[in-house]
Amino acid sequence: MLAMNYRGPYRVRVANKPHPEILHPQDAIVRVTRSCICGSDLHLYHGLVPDTRVGSTFGHEFVGIVEEIGPDVTKIKVGDQVLVPFNIACGECVFCKQELYGNCHESNAQATAVGAIFGYSHTAGGYDGGQAEYARVPYANVGPTVIPADMDPDDAVLLTDVVPTGYQAAEMAGIQTGDTVVIFGAGPVGIMAAKCAWLFGAGRVIVIDHVEYRLEFVRNYAQCEAYNFESLEDPVLFIKKTTGWLGADVCIDAVGGDAAGSAMQTLTGRKLLLQAGSATALHWAINAVKKGGIVSVVGVYGPTDNLVPIGNMMNKGLTMRGNQTSVKRLLPRLIEHVQAGRLSPKDIITHRVPLEEAADAYHIFSAKLDNCIKTVLIPSPAKF
Ligand SMILES: NC(=O)c1ccc[n+]([C@@H]2O[C@H](COP(=O)([O-])OP(=O)(O)OC[C@H]3O[C@@H](n4cnc5c(N)ncnc54)[C@H](O)[C@@H]3O)[C@@H](O)[C@H]2O)c1
Ligand SMILES: [Zn+2]
Ligand SMILES: [Zn+2]
Repeated sequence: MLAMNYRGPYRVRVANKPHPEILHPQDAIVRVTRSCICGSDLHLYHGLVPDTRVGSTFGHEFVGIVEEIGPDVTKIKVGDQVLVPFNIACGECVFCKQELYGNCHESNAQATAVGAIFGYSHTAGGYDGGQAEYARVPYANVGPTVIPADMDPDDAVLLTDVVPTGYQAAEMAGIQTGDTVVIFGAGPVGIMAAKCAWLFGAGRVIVIDHVEYRLEFVRNYAQCEAYNFESLEDPVLFIKKTTGWLGADVCIDAVGGDAAGSAMQTLTGRKLLLQAGSATALHWAINAVKKGGIVSVVGVYGPTDNLVPIGNMMNKGLTMRGNQTSVKRLLPRLIEHVQAGRLSPKDIITHRVPLEEAADAYHIFSAKLDNCIKTVLIPSPAKF
């Protein structure tokens, strides 16, 4: 089968790989009909994630048709159209029982923090992902969810990560009615967080980025304010000023370790790898939130330490929350939001590309070319 194939930083290609097989009675094989490229894939693509092995296939956002099931799979059947949450979770361990599906204790048993994620390096379990014609889906009674008959697969594929992550970012921020919410990052996750912040009752939503077309997009899509940090003297000062010098009620980091905006952070975090990515947005979030406020972190950082202003966090009395999103926990209410028209995820898709062109698609998304917000890769047997 054809599959995206990692060759090293900034180098991917599409190559032939053996068709995946059922390795465990709870496995399923899914014929992929759509998979997305995520900002999280960019951390891999840029070589920021340890133990990203040459030959691995990325892709943790995919939908498809169940092709084969192991003897213990009872919740889905051959022929079902399913969306597959990006977390691989056993459904049985102490953390899964608390619905912390991003922190499963079994699927990535060698790790102390994160559970397993499709196509996300051996630090996240070493499972191949869905940027391929077929994918093996472990614990198939837990994650894969049948796509409602009336749902567009383009909406469904965004329910595997982007929508739940934007929603959980807003949820972890503990937004109260009327709150001023500042979101760093106008990528798909920041855009969705802005949209969801309103669902939680925000009174004002401000997004910060430095890519003009994304700022323009989020202004229209989420009906919020959006500012370019390169044209602000200091983004923290700007947020203080615009909130009567108090600071935002909550700040959301939807950027993670690939952040721009600070030469020192970029050098130590992205070039020399002395810290787990550049923590510029997180730094700004801690400094721009009010005393007693909440910082919600969905931007991804690696396992090593980061330079963050922990003294400000402590002395301001902040609450910081973060996690990989627990997709399965959120799916029922998010399917409802999409069906009711309160969320329209597919509107953020700007590029539909044959799987064979994955290398170009990675380059365009990474370099923020061609007004790219979200790219869907489509294997050739699947319909556009
Ligand atoms: N926690 C989770 O479960 C989860 C799930 C999905 C994605 N993520 C993470 O969320 C983050 C965003 O994902 P995405 O798909 O939107 O990525 P993306 O790369 O498309 O978007 C990131 C945006 O941040 C902007 N940016 C860079 N530096 C900035 C700064 N200092 N301040 C403000 N904006 C800045 C970039 O210009 C870009 O538009 C990534 O770190 C990704 O790994 C986390
Ligand atoms: Zn993702
Ligand atoms: Zn588990």
